[in-house]
Amino acid sequence: MPAQADDGAGVTPAMRTEIDPDRLPQAIADLYRIKEGESLAVLMHMGGQLGLWTALAGAAPCTSGELADAAGLQERWLREWLHALAAAELVQHDRGRFALTPEAEALLADPDHPSYMPGVFGPPVSVDEIEQTVAGFRTGLGMTWEEHGEGACHMQTAMNAAKYRAYLIPEVVAALDGAAERLSRGGTIIDVGCGGGVAAGVLAAGFPEAAVIGIDPSARAIDRARADADHSGLHNLAYEQGTFDDLDRLPDADLLVTLDVLHDLPRPDRAVAAARRNLSAEGWWLVADIKSRGGLEANRKIPLLAYMYSTSLLYCLSSSLSEPGGAGLGALGLDPDRLEEMTAKAGFGRFTRHDFDFDPVNWYYEIRR
Ligand SMILES: C[S@@+](CC[C@H](N)C(=O)[O-])C[C@H]1O[C@@H](n2cnc3c(N)ncnc32)[C@H](O)[C@@H]1O
Repeated sequence: MPAQADDGAGVTPAMRTEIDPDRLPQAIADLYRIKEGESLAVLMHMGGQLGLWTALAGAAPCTSGELADAAGLQERWLREWLHALAAAELVQHDRGRFALTPEAEALLADPDHPSYMPGVFGPPVSVDEIEQTVAGFRTGLGMTWEEHGEGACHMQTAMNAAKYRAYLIPEVVAALDGAAERLSRGGTIIDVGCGGGVAAGVLAAGFPEAAVIGIDPSARAIDRARADADHSGLHNLAYEQGTFDDLDRLPDADLLVTLDVLHDLPRPDRAVAAARRNLSAEGWWLVADIKSRGGLEANRKIPLLAYMYSTSLLYCLSSSLSEPGGAGLGALGLDPDRLEEMTAKAGFGRFTRHDFDFDPVNWYYEIRR
């Protein structure tokens, strides 16, 4: 029977119902490929914990024994780890010596590289998180970011940190009509849903005359952000635990920042209305959100789509269903038309979408009164 697409994109071709023996071997390999990714991701997380990216990056091609001596670890365990990563072609192997590929070295061992990404390989989802998520299929209720615990907070913060450091001011704020010039003279910047605070820290360092406030409902995220701020010695940066609802008691923002947050919210409509009330008359609301095209078939153009939907289910959809009656947008649920409609309804008059080469995942929206 032909099946209806779930997003109104039209009728799909007839679906197959019989096993195709020619496809079966590939189907088996595809399933193991998924399992392979799971095991490798755990080994990569361990590599970060054990300091192995740094140890390998700083060394000439080495044997597992030499790496064991340098890292103070057991050779036999390291050898198996190296073999797994060599099989995955992240590590090169030649006559018993191992070295990271130059690409792996840049992406996993160089914190200054704009795509530095060990944070993607954060701790695996715990059994508790899986059980709570399974329960959500029955009850409808998901988990907040805070409820996921320290691992999710760390992963989320680490995932975007290098990108914000490299591009947030020179590319993104620079593209907002007149914002950089205005903020260089001072003003108020509020990062709402700031998570671990990297973007707020970058903005505070880049606009020393401006007062920067980061707010987030997660106590864990705010603790982390405050600890980093203490380290940085920035005097124009403060963090508060709070939500979009708290914008009403904060000063009007000249730049309001909402990065990778709106699709996570149970009540994005309330957030947009709160942003409209808070934003100063000539201010900018900078929103980053996933390049969703509005439905499964339209989204097939998005690279790593299965990763996007599965991560959404675990975190983003879950967060957006963490209150009864939550909107349930999830990572792929906020396409530009929908956001523009929401902002117009809240009274915003100007809506510009920016697309940057550095970020294949997000669009950046410049929203003004
Ligand atoms: C995907 S994380 C993004 C964090 C950060 N902006 C970044 O780009 O790394 C989403 C954040 O939204 C926060 N959040 C959830 N509900 C919120 C609300 N009602 N108001 C403000 N932030 C909220 C979560 O605690 C979480 O830190």
